[in-house]
Order: sequence, then C-alpha cells, then structure tokens
Amino acid sequence: MMKLPESFLWGASTSAFQIEGAYNVDGKGLATTDVREVPEGMADTKVACDHYHHWKEDVDLMAELGLKVYRMGFSWSRIMPDETLVPNEKGLAFYDQLIDYLLEKGIEPFVTLYHFECPQALVDAFGGWKSRKMIDAYVKYAEVCFRHFKGRVTKWVTVNEQLIATAAPGLAMEYLKDPHERAKWIWQISYHVSLAEHRAFDLLRTIDPDAAIGPVCAIQVVYPASSDPEDIRAAQEAEEMMEFALLDMSVYGEYSPSARTWLKERGLLPETETADEAVLHGSRPDFIGVNYYFSTCAKYEQKPFDFNTSFFWASDDCRIIPNENLKKTEWMNMGIDPQGLYNGMRKVWERYRLPMIVTENGMAVSETPDEDGRIHDTYRIEYLRDHINAVMRLREEGYPVFGYCPWSFIDVLSSHQGFSKRYGLVFIDRTETDPKDCRRIKKDSFRWYHDVIEKDGRDL
Ligand code: BG6
Repeated sequence: MMKLPESFLWGASTSAFQIEGAYNVDGKGLATTDVREVPEGMADTKVACDHYHHWKEDVDLMAELGLKVYRMGFSWSRIMPDETLVPNEKGLAFYDQLIDYLLEKGIEPFVTLYHFECPQALVDAFGGWKSRKMIDAYVKYAEVCFRHFKGRVTKWVTVNEQLIATAAPGLAMEYLKDPHERAKWIWQISYHVSLAEHRAFDLLRTIDPDAAIGPVCAIQVVYPASSDPEDIRAAQEAEEMMEFALLDMSVYGEYSPSARTWLKERGLLPETETADEAVLHGSRPDFIGVNYYFSTCAKYEQKPFDFNTSFFWASDDCRIIPNENLKKTEWMNMGIDPQGLYNGMRKVWERYRLPMIVTENGMAVSETPDEDGRIHDTYRIEYLRDHINAVMRLREEGYPVFGYCPWSFIDVLSSHQGFSKRYGLVFIDRTETDPKDCRRIKKDSFRWYHDVIEKDGRDL
C-alpha cells in the first residue's frame, strides 16, 4: 500500500478545460469540450478563467493560501493535439513552467490525466473511446506525461469520474436516441476506459516506481426513499451501478456478481477479448480520490428503460430523488449532506482498503461582489466547515484519509452550466458573455481556508 504522506495534504482543485482558456494557441488541438454546442449566452472554454495567461498569479495565490497540494488537470489536446500522437512541445512547456513554479513555492502538483475531455481529432479519426484504438492513444499520452514529468509529479489521477466521463457529450453518441443502445455504448466505453486505466497503472510502475496513481470517483451516497425493502434494494443497486461497478473495475478488474447480473439481464455487458483478463487483473491503484457534493435517495419504480434515473444512468426500476430532510439551495437542489461524505468514504474504505483523498467537494452559488467589492460567502464557509469536520472525524477514527481538496480553487467554468455557477475560493471577475479581465478577488472563504490549513483542521 502507498506510504501516506507525513502531513495531511490540504489542497484545492481545478481541471484544465474549466480554467485554462487559450483553446487554440501554441499548437493546442481542439478538445471535445471546445467544439460542443453551448447554449446562447453561456460561457465556453475559449477564455474560461484565462489561467493560461494568469498561471503565475494563480500559483502566488495558492502559496498565500498555504496549499500543500494542487490538484490540477492536463489538457490532453494541449500535449497531444491530434491522431498522429506527436507531443506538442509548447504544450509541455506550458505545464513545465507551471509545475516548476508550484514546486518552487512548495506546492505539490497532483495531476489528472483525463477530466471529461479528449482531442476532438481522436473522435473524428476513430470514434474516440468507442474504439480500442483510444486505449493505445491514452497510454501513449500517459507515457509522454510520466516520462516528461518524472520526479516532479509524483501523484497521478488516471480518470476523473468515470461515470460522468463516459457519458460526457462529445463522445460521438448524441445521435443515438434509443436509451438502451446508448447505455450499451456507455458501458462499452467505460470498459475501454478501465483497460486504459490498468495499462496506465502498470506503465507508471515501470517508468517511475516511486510515484502513486489512482482513479477519482464521484462517490454516490444513495439512501432508500423509505424503509420499503424495494426502496432499500433500489438504493443498494444505485450505488452498485453508479459507483462500485466502476471502482471494482479500477481496483479489482472485474464487476461484482450483482453488477454483472444487472448488466447481463439488460443485455448491457461489454464485449471483451481474451487478453483483457491479464490487463485488468495485472495491476491495482495506490489510492482512491473521492469527489462528493451531495447525497440522493432512490425509489423503486418500474418504468420504461430511460436516462431519467439520473442524467448519466439509465435504469428501468429505480428513480433518483432528493432527500426531503436536507436543506436545498439554488444550485444544490439535491440538498446539503456533510454526513453523507462520512458515510460514503467509510463504504469506500470497507470495500477497497486503500488510502483515500477528497479530490473535490464544494458548494455552487451565483455570486457577485458586494458594494465593498468583496464576496462574503459565509454559506460556503459553513458548507466546507461541515464537510471538513466529517473528514476530520474519519481521520480521528483511523481511516487513512491523506488529503482534502475543495472544488474549486478559483471559480471555474462549470462542467455544463456556464460561469454563473461558482464554487471558488477566489472570484473570477467575468460574466457569461464578457470575460473582461478575469481579475482575481479573494473571497471570505479564501481567508477562512487559509486559517483551516494553518490549524491543520482543528477547532473549526
Ligand atoms: C465534478 C467534476 O463532477 O463536479 C467537475 O469533476 C465539476 O469538473 C464539478 O465542475 C461540479 O459540477 P458542475 O456541473 O457544477 O460544474
């Protein structure tokens, strides 16, 4: 098992396409997220937070905040723009300067290779993850990164939230209108991603045995909507299919009997090849990254096979609904549930016995500065405090949680809902349609989190 860091890693998170901008400069190829249709009046990836031109100022802010680790993403299409898979020197140079400056400031870079996007050229050339060619392309990309940043990046994430990543727009499946056919592709794509992930685990061990690698999972904390045994089973099945089936593939290289049965009964089992077995069973991750925002409830309900269970999961016997007992806000419409983080991480530990780090956790709010030009985000402080307390409780009880990274360090472009939905500790002065100068303004939560780090999470 990975050796835990000596001190707890207080960090913060972002991803490449949600902050960088500069979507077509210095040899960067177009990413799937650059070409997808964005509703009129909503921000896109072209400028985002203009981190590409503000990276130094951003690292200075991280240093001021006291971050020990920065969970960031690489843009695949900046490093490897097209299907020739030839690395783009200018793309690597951008990350060189960023990583070197982070290290100079004593901040550890913790890099995600794949966060919801890939080069559009790979989708155009062979259908992206639909094809096994994508597995080789991903492994080539991982190899370039592992070799180039060896010794400087010592913690890697293979894939952010496989659940969402495999159903993300731009993977050439929007034209499939039949939910069953689309679900079949989603599971096939997910299977290809798992193969790619295991090959990357294996490769890193050869290239840099001192580095650690793991997946990031969107943990699903699903309570039964009632004590009706059918609801209890629906909740169990929802967690199994939306979380554990994917994590089981990452860790054990196989589906559980219940997940396999569920897929088989619905004709959704992916197509496999004989050589896959050895790849899937040949390696394991060092840790599990946990993303958590809210919990949900499951209600048993027989219905036509559709995607209304939740936006990424197609089912015919379960509906995901909000929990009546939780406080809801504009963007957190499933409710806020810090206890859910504790419950969910305990389950992850019980099933996998691997060290864990919270790679994302945060509260979205539409915000504008007050008359004094500041953002007094007491609601976010409350949200983060309650969730950090859940993490501290896990630590005290002896669960191996080695870090916490709120989402997000700066306000970022939402994964699919523009720039009005803000999660950051730092405000970015821009609107949906006007990037202005993307000025950085520290929110009250920035100052508060600085003190949390200084006190190592005690007495919040
Ligand atoms: C996580 C993603 O699912 O949730 C992030 O890893 C994303 O990329 C975050 O931004 C919040 O979701 P959204 O849709 O509000 O941006």
